[in-house]
Amino acid sequence: MPVLYTNEYPHTLPHVNETYIRRTAEILLDLLGRTAAELSILLVDDKRMSELNSAWRQKDGSTNVLAFSLTEGEDLGMAGNLLGDIVISIETAVREAAREKISLHQRLDFLLVHGFLHLIGYDHEKSRADSQIMVKREKEILQQLKIKRSEPMIRLAVNVDHVATLREARGIKEPDPVLAAGICELAGAEGIVVHLREDRRHIQDRDVRLLRQSVKTKLNLEMGANREIIKFALDIKPDMVTLVPEKRKELTTEGGLNVTGQKKKLRDVIRQMNDAGIPVSLFIDPDPRQIAASRSIGATYVEIHTGRYSDASGEEEREHEFALISAAAENAYETGLRVNAGHGLNYFNTTRVASLATIEELSIGHAIMTRAIFVGLDQAVREMLALMI
Ligand code: PXP
Repeated sequence: MPVLYTNEYPHTLPHVNETYIRRTAEILLDLLGRTAAELSILLVDDKRMSELNSAWRQKDGSTNVLAFSLTEGEDLGMAGNLLGDIVISIETAVREAAREKISLHQRLDFLLVHGFLHLIGYDHEKSRADSQIMVKREKEILQQLKIKRSEPMIRLAVNVDHVATLREARGIKEPDPVLAAGICELAGAEGIVVHLREDRRHIQDRDVRLLRQSVKTKLNLEMGANREIIKFALDIKPDMVTLVPEKRKELTTEGGLNVTGQKKKLRDVIRQMNDAGIPVSLFIDPDPRQIAASRSIGATYVEIHTGRYSDASGEEEREHEFALISAAAENAYETGLRVNAGHGLNYFNTTRVASLATIEELSIGHAIMTRAIFVGLDQAVREMLALMI
């Protein structure tokens, strides 16, 4: 649960957009390299802010934002993944926005960035030099935030496993999935996915090690919760891992993880990964029980299995499966999870899934590689991206 949002502001006006604030906080976690961390945001009025200001900082009156870090001081070690709390007084933010002639949400952006920087150790009250450093960083991050917001929400992560499948069919060095990954990124993919299987049928350790160095966007390592691969992942430190069920005899991942049935084991893997700063996604069927269980054991993301939607044999079945995906994405997002989706998506069925506002990223492999044989990898990626707008 990366962002815990609590609105204790006791009035309905002004309207504060929860999705906007959660999205801002998620972008900040990503921008500052803390994707695996959790952040709590509390909105209050001036009265409550004055109480907090007096209790914790021995200061009179309200203020705009307070940040309580859980990664420093006596609480260190008690925090788990929680970076800390950012408390914002909406009443003060409204007054400041009016004074600066900007919208409330623009002002909230600034207050969130300010609070976030305090949480990770910046302190403008220490000295003039510290204040200058913090102001400069605030400006940089606000600029990056603007750019990130203007990008389309949905991203494409390309799975390059099947480039390795072709290589392994000959047992030689070509084609190289590392080179393929670079081409995908140049064509506009914002992530590279590889599944390091226990049987090493396609992707090899060498591929992941090289990709770790060469991928410029985000390396997502798909893996089963198996001890040897966990050790490897902790050593390589991909940008994220996606846990999938893995059976030796399957041709591809067949279904979502049974999270409800193995909470303890998965919680333990998530904890180990998070301790190493690696966020974890759980590949699950669009099932509310699996979503609730994923959240309860601390996953940052879920990847919703789109396989049954993709394989549906008729319109009625496809509609039914799409409705499940749509409801699951909404449910997971509302629960506080970040949401990806994938499996079996192709040039005919992706646009609809990409239109779901709560999904951040699609993971697509086989269809892109199949098309790449005929039109080239660069074009195959670009064509898929064009369908996701
Ligand atoms: N997501 C997961 C968890 C997968 O296991 C796979 C297949 O490796 C994909 C997405 C991509 O599926 P496809 O190759 O059918 O696009």
